[in-house]
Amino acid sequence: MEWVAVNDMLSENITKLNYTLIPPGFRGDVRSVRLMQDSLSKLIDALGEQSATAQGLNKVITTAEKLRNAPTHILYLLKDSKAKGGKGDVIGLLKIGRKHLFLFDEHDKVCEVEPLCVLDFFVLRDRQRHGYGKVLFDHMLQDMEMAAHELAIDGPSPKMEQFLHKNYGIERLLRQNNNFAVAPQFFAGAAEINSKSGRSTPAVTPALGRFAAPKPPSAIATVIHGGGSYYDHETRNGYSRCRAMNSH
Ligand code: ACO
Repeated sequence: MEWVAVNDMLSENITKLNYTLIPPGFRGDVRSVRLMQDSLSKLIDALGEQSATAQGLNKVITTAEKLRNAPTHILYLLKDSKAKGGKGDVIGLLKIGRKHLFLFDEHDKVCEVEPLCVLDFFVLRDRQRHGYGKVLFDHMLQDMEMAAHELAIDGPSPKMEQFLHKNYGIERLLRQNNNFAVAPQFFAGAAEINSKSGRSTPAVTPALGRFAAPKPPSAIATVIHGGGSYYDHETRNGYSRCRAMNSH
């Protein structure tokens, strides 16, 4: 099979992709779109696999198939147009998406939020520490109109922690049992974060399944760190979304 060159698929240095797997500006008939998507999928899968290996993960976070099945996720790809004899090569990825999370601040107050999350972030090994990661991350922040401390990070690696410290002044992250981590400043803007997600009311999941019934306080932390959907009557009725939790 003949693969489409990166420069023929991705016109910009940074391309924003969603579940359609069609780069902005790409034109062609059905056959050429299919061919392009096959080529792009192969690149995304290879990069996703390298990212997982670099982070020591036993499952791959980013694949073309996963992106296709996640309508709210966004994948930014960074290319080097001069690589591969002028055909171009993809050298970095950054995947983001909103997640419904329960997060504890430094005072054991729990917040129910739906922040934008960094789900996967990778620059080719021999390209790291050349500023490419910052270019990609800055692009995403500008595109999403966010500051770095407003994001939740899914399983930050030591390199990620240093990256955030160096480039965005985030000195430390508060690690949660659900594997996410946020900057301490995250909680100061928690209400605003939800409003940026376009929600005028707190983000809650519907009362379904085993989490539908009201729970005694002792069970809540378990549910929270289980990461599943939990119907919170307090938040549904518009009371404070952050409250003290001493039971975990
Ligand atoms: N060791 C320590 N810190 C590092 C390293 C490293 N090997 N590589 C990058 N950093 C940090 C440092 O703060 C570095 O600054 P310094 O060189 O002055 O010490 C800074 O990042 C460099 O910034 P950039 O050059 O813009 O970043 P880079 O292009 O290297 O991309 C990234 C950063 C994506 C973290 C890259 O290093 C990488 O792919 N690492 C392996 C995979 C990984 O850990 N991804 C993040 C997982 S968390 C998640 O995905 C939600």
